[in-house]
Amino acid sequence: MDFISSKNIFLLTRDTLKLIDKRLMKHGSRTGYILYKMLKQRGGYEKFEMAELVMLATLHDIGAYKTDDVKTTVRFEAKHYMAHSIYGYLFLKYLSPMEEKSKILLYHHVDYAKIKDIVYTYKEEAAFLNFAEKVDIYRVALQDKFDISVLGQYMGTRYSEESFELFRLANQNGEIFKHLETEEYEKELDELMDYIMFTNEEKKRYMEMLMYCLGLRSPKKVVDSVTSICICEELAIRLFLNEKETEKLYYGALLHDIGMLAMPEEIVEKDGLPSLEEIQILETHVELSEEILKNRLEQDVLNIAIAHHERLDGSGYPKKLRDMQMNTSQKILQVADKVTGLINGDFYEHAYNKEQIIPILMEEADRKKLSSQVVDVMILFYDEIMEKVELESGQILLLHKKLETQFEKVLKNSK
Ligand SMILES: [Fe+2]
Ligand SMILES: [Fe+2]
Ligand SMILES: [Fe+2]
Repeated sequence: MDFISSKNIFLLTRDTLKLIDKRLMKHGSRTGYILYKMLKQRGGYEKFEMAELVMLATLHDIGAYKTDDVKTTVRFEAKHYMAHSIYGYLFLKYLSPMEEKSKILLYHHVDYAKIKDIVYTYKEEAAFLNFAEKVDIYRVALQDKFDISVLGQYMGTRYSEESFELFRLANQNGEIFKHLETEEYEKELDELMDYIMFTNEEKKRYMEMLMYCLGLRSPKKVVDSVTSICICEELAIRLFLNEKETEKLYYGALLHDIGMLAMPEEIVEKDGLPSLEEIQILETHVELSEEILKNRLEQDVLNIAIAHHERLDGSGYPKKLRDMQMNTSQKILQVADKVTGLINGDFYEHAYNKEQIIPILMEEADRKKLSSQVVDVMILFYDEIMEKVELESGQILLLHKKLETQFEKVLKNSK
């Protein structure tokens, strides 16, 4: 897949989570840097292996975007750590290609004494991560007063001796701290990520993981996105898009609402109609999507994603594009997004049925809002399309449901 480079997958994932909470992502990046220095000190890793472990470390609190009041990082890290460790682990296990390494997240708050005898390939790395992120948390909380001996008292119990030693050697003359303070570390991380390497299949799964990130804020948004994607796929077949175009449409549809992650929860989860002011805020989600997707994704894919609220008569947003400026793929996503909103009842008083949806689509096509070519196909094959959409979206959403159910179960048992 040449739409996106491996490095951009990393940057896009980081920026997507940053939309939810900047501070938590900064903690992730600094933790990634500390771990990087420890791994480098240890030696024996290829650069791409280090890059992948650092990516994982950057995402180590991914479960906290979902489970906790992320504004109080120190509090949840200190007390309520099991929930976000479990959610993060399951999220990566089911929804990313990092299945094998996902347990590193499960163990990132578990005392080394408890895991040192288990059989797990990345046990030591999990212990390093545990140590690295504590260094960051204590360093930020205690500032000048921070001394590594604060953690030293737990050597061999909470933290492995090797973690301690690696950190000590890597931080000689306060190297690590110096770079963390000057933000120099970001440059080093950036250089390391030149070596990250994913197969096409892994890239696809990471892109899908980004869509699942919508569920960290609102599970309903995942249902919406999956519905839109499936409608797009069915329309693409019936409008004879070629393989390349279909693939681009898939990725455009996958990421089109990613900017929603930055929208205030009260507005997104509100029942009923939003106010005018709330609508204006919501409309900024497209620009936010564009901001994080641009220069990361191939232009054609980006253009599909950010045109989903444009309308052929120029009345859409944000660029007020007109019919001639848009291609069939963009017009397909516009129709798919509209239909999804109606079926799932987003920002309408209720969910609509077929008899109500068809006249609305016809009117929008008559008023030159939506493409009449796409709308005609949608209406002509309505039942067939929706039947397939239900089947396919059900299959895709199973994974997400599995994650949620297993999370509840494991969480209950861990209490
Ligand atoms: Fe953390
Ligand atoms: Fe954590
Ligand atoms: Fe949208």
